[in-house]
Amino acid sequence: MWSDLSHPGATMKSNAPSAGAGFLRIEGLAKSFAPGKPVFADLSFTLDRGEFVCIIGHSGCGKTTILNVLAGLDTASAGHVFMDGRELAGPSLERGVVFQSHALMPWLSVRRNIAFAVRSRWPGWPAAQVDEQVRKFVALVGLDGAIDKKPSQLSGGMKQRVGIARAFSIQPKMLLLDEPFGALDALTRGTIQDELMRIVRQTQQTVFMITHDVDEAILLADRILLMSNGSETADGYRPGNIAETVQNPLPRERTRAGLHHLDGYYALRNHIVDFLVTRAKAT
Ligand SMILES: Nc1ncnc2c1ncn2[C@@H]1O[C@H](COP(=O)(O)OP(=O)(O)OP(=O)(O)O)[C@@H](O)[C@H]1O
Ligand SMILES: [Mg+2]
Repeated sequence: MWSDLSHPGATMKSNAPSAGAGFLRIEGLAKSFAPGKPVFADLSFTLDRGEFVCIIGHSGCGKTTILNVLAGLDTASAGHVFMDGRELAGPSLERGVVFQSHALMPWLSVRRNIAFAVRSRWPGWPAAQVDEQVRKFVALVGLDGAIDKKPSQLSGGMKQRVGIARAFSIQPKMLLLDEPFGALDALTRGTIQDELMRIVRQTQQTVFMITHDVDEAILLADRILLMSNGSETADGYRPGNIAETVQNPLPRERTRAGLHHLDGYYALRNHIVDFLVTRAKAT
């Protein structure tokens, strides 16, 4: 079932730029909404092809702003973003976005919400091919039985799954997720985390995800970016930035249930929590 889901980039891992060169490259990014007080500045990081990177930081540090720039929905005040060697200019179906709220079209069924995205991506496809693609990704998130329902007839978790199916259905080179499970109860959240991890591993998808949940980051991410807030210091205003990058040392085939039994789990968790409590804000 999974073998035919790989997107064009999935088999290209061996052809990927050498480690560190970066499939996605962010260079010197800054964003100001108020003069002289950029939310963040001089922000640089890279994502390798097939890598899952989470960013964690307190409210207001600029995570969604970064994601919006990567999605092409907002422009930076300074700096550059390159994907696959090309500078990004505006939104593109090469990047799939899942927002915190599902952002589905309420008047369309699940099938037609996803078909809309698929047709935008491949305008020349006949209706039967579009429908086949839709059904494949609806099945992937376990919603076959709800395919002809409207969003208002679905639970919050189901709507979030439709959003995930839609983002995956266009087989983007990169997925951008802004706290996609933030509004879900713990049980649903766990189930969808497992699903997301399975799909991402299977398709070798490159993912940039915002989360406030330390365990979610430890479960899903290969690397975790710890972001500090902009703050007033004795030397003047200091913009937010990536304070530290943490490589996840746990085995990649980890599960939610077994996470806390793994060597290194508590050390990693404590390190991240310590950052959030003592170092993420200057005050
Ligand atoms: N369009 C805007 N106009 C003015 N200020 C903005 C705008 N968008 C964001 N900001 C400000 O930029 C800062 C970063 O916002 P952003 O939404 O990126 O934070 P965040 O890290 O995603 O926070 P949260 O964890 O609460 O979602 C905040 O101080 C916010 O008030
Ligand atoms: Mg945000």
